[in-house]
Amino acid sequence: MCGIVGAIARRNVSKILLEGLSRLEYRGYDSAGVAINNDEGVFGHRAVGKVQGLRDKFDAAPLDGTVGIAHTRWATHGKPTELNAHPHFSGNDLALVHNGIIENHEELRAGLKNQGYVFQSETDTEVIVHLIHSALQSGLGLLQAVQTSLNKLEGAFAIAVTQKDDKERFIAARKGSPLVVGVGIEENFVASDQLALLHVTDQFIFLEEGDVVEVTRDAVTVYDLNGQEQERPVSVFNHHVDATDKGEFRHYMMKEIYEQPSVISACLEGRISDKKVLTSCFGADSAFLKDVENVHIIACGTSYHAGLVAKYWIEDLAGIPCLVEVASEYRYRKVAVPKNTLFLTLSQSGETADTLAALRMAKELNYLTTLAICNVPSSTLVRESDLTLLTNAGAEIGVASTKAFTTQLTALLITSIAIAVENGLPADKEEALVQAMKELPAHVYAALKQDAHIKEVSDKFANKHHSLFLGRGVMFPIALEGALKLKEISYIHAEAYPAGELKHGPLALVDEHMPIITLVPHNDLLDKLKSNIQEVSARGGELFVFADRDTNLDNEEGITFTEVPKVPQILEPIVHTIPLQLLSYHVAVVKGTDVDQPRNLAKSVTVE
Ligand code: F6R
Repeated sequence: MCGIVGAIARRNVSKILLEGLSRLEYRGYDSAGVAINNDEGVFGHRAVGKVQGLRDKFDAAPLDGTVGIAHTRWATHGKPTELNAHPHFSGNDLALVHNGIIENHEELRAGLKNQGYVFQSETDTEVIVHLIHSALQSGLGLLQAVQTSLNKLEGAFAIAVTQKDDKERFIAARKGSPLVVGVGIEENFVASDQLALLHVTDQFIFLEEGDVVEVTRDAVTVYDLNGQEQERPVSVFNHHVDATDKGEFRHYMMKEIYEQPSVISACLEGRISDKKVLTSCFGADSAFLKDVENVHIIACGTSYHAGLVAKYWIEDLAGIPCLVEVASEYRYRKVAVPKNTLFLTLSQSGETADTLAALRMAKELNYLTTLAICNVPSSTLVRESDLTLLTNAGAEIGVASTKAFTTQLTALLITSIAIAVENGLPADKEEALVQAMKELPAHVYAALKQDAHIKEVSDKFANKHHSLFLGRGVMFPIALEGALKLKEISYIHAEAYPAGELKHGPLALVDEHMPIITLVPHNDLLDKLKSNIQEVSARGGELFVFADRDTNLDNEEGITFTEVPKVPQILEPIVHTIPLQLLSYHVAVVKGTDVDQPRNLAKSVTVE
């Protein structure tokens, strides 16, 4: 998604801004730009493609100055072209960058055209810069011009704006899209994501909905929705490691796959004792657990798949109903909320627009309480939910979610057990589950040992265009996640089916060209799955089976077998995820795609 960086300092800010943009590359984008405000006026460079292209422009024609704004764009209104890239300008007076979507841009554009403004781009953003310009022409100062203009906007935005005649400040604002202020010494910054500023500061102010901020070299002044000055606390960034470093790995995705044993440990830490789940992990008020009679889980993409797994756990362990739905559907329908229903959102970023909208809608309904399982402590989702369980996975840079998913599952298992205990789960069963969870990091580590073998298997996908993933029961959502991972980074079309559905349609697709990736759980569905494997074999399908050795599938003819460690049943979905992540990674490398920033995708989907 789009990214913003802004800076005011006593030194030249162009390198700071470019480095900030590089740190935002992981979010996904298709063009980038920087505007510098110096004695000559407000000028910029913009480039389609990678930030390196923008750096090349700066090398060829340097632009220096002590105030500037920068942007990575992920196209929504208008193609990824240089003219549509941000910053957008109103003459050489004013430059502006924007994340989000302005819903009433057409109406505003018509009004501005009547005033004589000429539009250079197809973007919704350009209306904002001309609106502010028009307000300045009426005699307002920059701060007031921004405040007045923002009141006319419908939609979601985070912006930063700099004016030629005002080199002592720049203005930024947020409503519906994230923005943080980075506090330095005699220099201050803004960005859509803390990671963009870790090279210059570790002190941050999180802006609230509707805040407008005036940023000078020596001060940061925040005004709320009503224009009242407000104090917002400064917090210190507390990740031990700068996650923007790939270390020994070629891609962030691989680094993050390998981090899973340690981040799962971090997710479990302080949440389980030898025998029990520690309900204090839900905060001081864990009393809600005893009242939960229903659960609604809302999320998008990979996080939604984690929710689908949790449905099996909650209904099996706690015996209460659980509905799981994608946020983009949930938010646009009338929802029946049974008494004492927990509203649970799942999100890596905590900034996904649909999930946030669903939460806001849920707050108007009759839910028991709202709980967010999220990876980013400072995110909007965390701040707006009643309760939070952090996944503690550390920053995830690769667009394809890996460690965020397995830590979400870990946090969901903790939550499911906590609810189950209040619904009569016997103490010995709780103890057995908790003991199993303690071994989870070691099992995940063991699953990673198949990496070299999976790399060899991946060669067989080099010329494939389609694939089918099969799973049954709790493994079906893992099949969905495996298919999503493969399609998003290797661009191979992948579908997942519950294996029992095969003969109801998809079997027609099976021939010797179709790879069928089958996840075999070691439970009472094993024999049924073996029958499904026979159905595929009989039609000449190319079978790739992921199972433990005790399933006796390793020596079957016509099967490419990958061993998954044998683990307690409750852990199977988490451990089976690892080889599928490795498979999609290696297939993408074989195919030569952009593993960490797959085409058309963004890390944090902050627009609808
Ligand atoms: C896929 C992926 C996406 C996200 C989805 C939700 O690998 O990463 O499907 O899971 O965009 O994002 P969050 O979890 O940040 O709400």
